[in-house]
Amino acid sequence: MSDRLNAAPNDLRAFWMPFTANRQFKKEPRLFVSAKDMYYTTHDGRQVLDGTAGLWCVNAGHCRPKITEAIAQQAGELDYAPAFQLGHPKAFELANRLVDIAPDGLDRVLYTNSGSESVETALKIALAYHRVKGNGSRTRLIGRERGYHGVNFGGISVGGIVTNRKMFGTLLTGVDHMPHTHLPGKNAFTRGEPEHGGDIASELERIVTLHDASTIAAVIVEPVAGSTGVLIPPKGYLQKLREICTKHGILLIFDEVITGFGRLGTPFAAQYYDVKPDIITTAKGLTNGVIPMGAVFVTSEIHDAFMQGPEHMIEFFHGYTYSGNPIASAAALATLDTYKEEGLLTRAAELSNYWADALHSLKDCPNVIDIRNTGLIGAIELDPIAGEPTKRAFTAFLKAYEKGLLIRTTGDIIALSPPLIIEKHHIDELFGKLREILQNNI
Ligand SMILES: Cc1ncc(COP(=O)(O)O)c(C=O)c1O
Repeated sequence: MSDRLNAAPNDLRAFWMPFTANRQFKKEPRLFVSAKDMYYTTHDGRQVLDGTAGLWCVNAGHCRPKITEAIAQQAGELDYAPAFQLGHPKAFELANRLVDIAPDGLDRVLYTNSGSESVETALKIALAYHRVKGNGSRTRLIGRERGYHGVNFGGISVGGIVTNRKMFGTLLTGVDHMPHTHLPGKNAFTRGEPEHGGDIASELERIVTLHDASTIAAVIVEPVAGSTGVLIPPKGYLQKLREICTKHGILLIFDEVITGFGRLGTPFAAQYYDVKPDIITTAKGLTNGVIPMGAVFVTSEIHDAFMQGPEHMIEFFHGYTYSGNPIASAAALATLDTYKEEGLLTRAAELSNYWADALHSLKDCPNVIDIRNTGLIGAIELDPIAGEPTKRAFTAFLKAYEKGLLIRTTGDIIALSPPLIIEKHHIDELFGKLREILQNNI
């Protein structure tokens, strides 16, 4: 009670912040008050270069006029339409536009409000698909160590980040995990896809042998694992996963929440690696991060399997109040227009060499033990301080913020994923600032 009586509007106590060191933050707050294109402005009036596209989502840069206008216009015209048994035109238009840029065959779309919900939706579709096909024994889900699939129960069950799992009991049953592909001893300082580790995919065969294919519904992986510190798939790895899944009738789900919408220089990573999954989960870049929205792409074969029984019956008992929300749909359409007009879904391909050269030039900095990259993604792995894991990278994050640069850290890894509108001079600024920080022996 007394807390409330004393609270001023700018009191920081009431908001329990997500994935944040709350006590540290509230002693030393870092607030953004506005943003434009590649830069944020802080509460103390400084410019901060966005090295992470917000949280891997602001692919077209900040406060883009077309998107802002579309949201304002839609809010004045149709604010909300019930998502169940009713619709509105923009949700359909958007689905068609999305299918146009998706890998061939992934031509049906369901909407969600986040990456986590896209993952839950995909896992539920996989289970239900096998059941409607008469294969109800296929209930197991296979994820991967160091995988990140959001924070809901399905996602943390198939995910492989211990801190995200250990507090929450036994999670979903019937889940197994493939080994991760991070081999720093063999692949350190690789540009692009690592040479070693493609054969780790055959561990999936071992898991299939252990449980029997008739019990397995789906395998879910991020084509490039982001939140666990940027793990690039070794050569041949994703192809091999595809082969094994096809051989055993297992659905392959690519979680493209960070790789979707141009991060690698193609609309989706599936196109970049030329491997076609059965389901793709997306969010983030779909609306340029501006309005919460996710989309799950499935093949028409999966969709059609549900289209049976009496026509007045709901075919799939799943959905959200805000699935395909009009304002989110308008934001997504304007985002796709912006991507198209500015060639942003392929821009990473043009810049990736310049990006990789600048990133790998930090190899000689103290405590740097690995650097890796693909598309417009980069990671710098630091040697953890003995007995104080994560501290070195967190110090780099704080110093970068002071210097006017936004980076993201996970463990002792710095992850970089700038807006796709980045120019060469921004790349120089980004890595120039990082060099100054890392050279100082943090
Ligand atoms: C691969 C992947 N899946 C799912 C998610 C969860 O997305 P959200 O935070 O929108 O729920 C993320 C978020 O970073 C992600 O990187």
